[in-house]
Amino acid sequence: MIKPDDIERIVDACRIEEVVGDFVRLTKRGANYIGLCPFHNEKTPSFIVSPAKGIYKCFGCGKAGDAVNFVMEHEHYSYPEALRYLARKYGIVLVETQPTAEQKKEYDEKEQLYKLHEYAKDFFIDQLLHTPEGKNVGLAYFRQRSFTDNTIAKFQLGYSPQGRDAFTQSALHKGYSAKELEKSGLTIIKDNNYFLDRFRERVIFPVHNFSGRVIAFGGRVMSAGKTDYAAKYVNSPETDIYHKSNVLYGIYLSKNAIKKFDKCYLVEGYTDVISFHQTGIENVVASSGTSLTVEQIRLIKKLTNNITIIYDGDNAGIKAALRGISLALKQDVNVRVVLLPPEDDPDSFARNHTMEECVAYIEEHECDFITFKAKILLADAKTDPIKRAEVINTIAGDVALVNDVIVRSEYVHQCSDLFSIPEESFADAVRKKYYKIVSEQRAKQEETNAAEAEQALDLSDTVKRHTQSIMPRNKAQVAEKALMKLLINHGESLVFFNTEQDEPCGIRLDQFIYNNMAEDAIELSVPEYAELYDLYAKYAEQCDDNVVKSMCNGASEKLRATIMELLEVQVPKTSEEGADSTIKENGVEDYSGVLLENAVRILQFLRLTRLLSRRSLFKAKLQNASEEETDVLLILIQELTQKIAEIEAILGTTYRNNSEYIC
Ligand code: CTP
Ligand code: MN
Repeated sequence: MIKPDDIERIVDACRIEEVVGDFVRLTKRGANYIGLCPFHNEKTPSFIVSPAKGIYKCFGCGKAGDAVNFVMEHEHYSYPEALRYLARKYGIVLVETQPTAEQKKEYDEKEQLYKLHEYAKDFFIDQLLHTPEGKNVGLAYFRQRSFTDNTIAKFQLGYSPQGRDAFTQSALHKGYSAKELEKSGLTIIKDNNYFLDRFRERVIFPVHNFSGRVIAFGGRVMSAGKTDYAAKYVNSPETDIYHKSNVLYGIYLSKNAIKKFDKCYLVEGYTDVISFHQTGIENVVASSGTSLTVEQIRLIKKLTNNITIIYDGDNAGIKAALRGISLALKQDVNVRVVLLPPEDDPDSFARNHTMEECVAYIEEHECDFITFKAKILLADAKTDPIKRAEVINTIAGDVALVNDVIVRSEYVHQCSDLFSIPEESFADAVRKKYYKIVSEQRAKQEETNAAEAEQALDLSDTVKRHTQSIMPRNKAQVAEKALMKLLINHGESLVFFNTEQDEPCGIRLDQFIYNNMAEDAIELSVPEYAELYDLYAKYAEQCDDNVVKSMCNGASEKLRATIMELLEVQVPKTSEEGADSTIKENGVEDYSGVLLENAVRILQFLRLTRLLSRRSLFKAKLQNASEEETDVLLILIQELTQKIAEIEAILGTTYRNNSEYIC
């Protein structure tokens, strides 16, 4: 039991921005901090941390509380677990009162598992450092791998002795029950009374969670000859505190460096991470021999958006790993890959080079993930046309996952080169994949969206009425109609804009529109348009061209009427400022500039509408907000106002003086 005095000391020591800052990237805004909420998916921050008040609050999903709440919520800790975590963080020594038998029972089972793991870790360390067998076998092994004493201590490496149940007996003696031991996976029990240590005659690598608690172990076999019948590594099974897919080896010791360098190296195994640290590169984690999972990417994303995967030069498991990484693209992280020289793995490479050499090699050989994957798969397909087509299809799917238009068109350019096919046909393949993703996502989103949004924003009736009246409904509808007109009439036209290198980059207008809409999470408010918008995506996924024509055939009568209403006969209007149509060599007028300009303005306008209604909502909330809430709401409103002003500046006088400009 933690004494009330100690609880007070812990709470006093906590600085909310530090506690939250261990898990969320925070940016300072005046006296407060703002960041992306870790409890729900969002692209614009609504998560605020107030050091003065010692609280955090998310205006998106409504989660709020103090430092202890945050740790409980984020790490799924119980109240005492969270307090112990914070006590450790702030170096507060707890004098816990001896639990009575009654209280001991109350300890939740998870806490007990953590304790058992802590005990096991200490047992293995003790074996390694203080027993003849540990020193002769385990320590000798680490020395031979050139792990220093510092490294061994830092990673809390240990040794499990040979014999049947040395660890189990020691833990039983210490008071842990057979049931707990079995639950932890450290002991295997057969026929009710035959105890067997899971780890026997192996060096031990403890696995820590994000906040530094030991949650599992990996044990490496000693004698090479034994690999014939013993697995090289034995790992803890899944337990109440260990879910392999949520864990990255090394994350606790590496997280500060990952944040600092805004980059995370991803390697395969325990020893790779350790050798990197020893050579001075500390921003590194391992997926422990499996392909990357979404949860693992989320973990990294708390710290950085840049992941560089470092592979052995001749790794056979590379393709299996590749599959997992496409996931990362969906999560909006930048993935790069480095292949090491064929004779090296990350571990040997780090041991044989200085930190400077390692970093230089990595920087020189980093290759973006898609190009890397394309090259590997192509090499595999050789000249087989069917296999090549499959590869192109696969890569098109990966490129479609990239959200940034310019980055994506850069990939289209590179990949079509790589595949020696015309850029347009690869762009087409990407487009179809893209719409497939869009339709799937929207279908999924629709189910949860409406209910969740209402609930999250916690709109009272008065607030709802209030916001609706301020929302520029009519203007939004006009803009939506203009957008749908562009889509229906000119969706398949190519538009061009300049990349940073000043190279023109071409993209179909429909794709440009879907892209921007998705990026800003803009939803159409007119039901017919929303329905049509989804239907278009469905048909665009299947058709090369004539999307609208095929769509008409499949649409309900009502939607067909809407389409007809939107179809126009004449060419698009040019804007007041010009952007005149140009005449192509073949004498056909090219309206691409006008189309793009129109699309951009409409999208900006919709964006503006969304921001305005969000701001109105926050303003409405101000009316019955507590003092604390008022502070943070004002910051959010200020952020929004700034964005709104930026967009208004882009839209310029046209927006203020002539709201009809987009018709
Ligand atoms: N692994 C595992 N079980 C195995 C083999 C591998 O869990 N039977 C995981 C371990 O996390 C290991 C990683 O996959 O660290 C990479 O495997 P490998 O390259 O074979 O091991 P290394 O860590 O490189 O170990 P060593 O350098 O000692 O060979
Ligand atoms: Mn290795």
